[in-house]
Amino acid sequence: MEFIKKLVEKKGPEESDYDALHLEIERIGSMLDQPSPAILYGDLLDIISPVLSVETMQGFAFHKPHGYSGDYEIIDKIYRNWKSTQEDLRRWDEFFHAQQAPIAVRNRKRFFLDTLESCKDDGDELRVLNVGSGPGRDMLEFFQKYPDTDISFDCVDYDKESIAYASELCSTYLDRIRFFHKNVFRFTPDRKYDIIWSAGLFDYLDDRKFVYLLVKLRAYLATGGRLIIGNFSNRNPTRKYMELFGKWFLYHRSEQELAALAKAAGVPEEQVTVYCEPLGVNLFLHLGHA
Ligand SMILES: C[S@@+](CC[C@H](N)C(=O)[O-])C[C@H]1O[C@@H](n2cnc3c(N)ncnc32)[C@H](O)[C@@H]1O
Repeated sequence: MEFIKKLVEKKGPEESDYDALHLEIERIGSMLDQPSPAILYGDLLDIISPVLSVETMQGFAFHKPHGYSGDYEIIDKIYRNWKSTQEDLRRWDEFFHAQQAPIAVRNRKRFFLDTLESCKDDGDELRVLNVGSGPGRDMLEFFQKYPDTDISFDCVDYDKESIAYASELCSTYLDRIRFFHKNVFRFTPDRKYDIIWSAGLFDYLDDRKFVYLLVKLRAYLATGGRLIIGNFSNRNPTRKYMELFGKWFLYHRSEQELAALAKAAGVPEEQVTVYCEPLGVNLFLHLGHA
């Protein structure tokens, strides 16, 4: 705790402090997991509260100005490597972005873009369902690179502000994007899809809801289509930092757990593959032909 206190006093960690800070966060997290911990979470909060301003990435995560974890704004700040302009806070944002979890989030956007690129020339107009679509930065980058593509996207998001933000960001390409302001659990599409993509949603669902939604979405796949679901791996080394500094809790899952959930949803084993981004921190349950 003393170490973290010193970092708060000296305006945040320098790169040379990262390993020690990471170890200290792990140590505190493990202590707090004990049945009768020698310290309280409130003790840590007392120390870090000055650097949990909503003007920092970790403070934004902690205070959840949109009312829930993983909103479109923080995700887009992760994509843009956003850092506070305030001198006494900026180093905390540099630390945030250097963690494996935000890097994995940026990698998962790359994974989606690679998937789209790999099938953009597959012939007929490709239809994508983007579930929990968030800021739309992924679609923007795709359209900017392939402005004449005939891939089209249907986006479902239950946050009105998220849809407004993505519509604005992708305003040039709205001829190929439809937005549905809906809770995906109550969404019934009017067509079937070649690709159904969902990242940053299933890792907020317990196993029962996960399987329910998987069954529901799979029914919207066109013949030969594929469904890809992102989920943080249980090997996420940033987990304790996210939980302690950001109150950002996820259902972390292993490859085997994801495959078991697909099985529970009635998907034949030969249609199931689990991929990951380069760090192995974000997994992708892939249903369909590998
Ligand atoms: C973590 S963000 C991920 C955004 C985007 N998929 C990405 O990776 O850039 C999750 C998004 O899912 C939306 N969301 C969460 N639960 C949802 C639900 N049940 N129905 C529709 N949207 C949901 C949130 O509003 C948020 O915009």
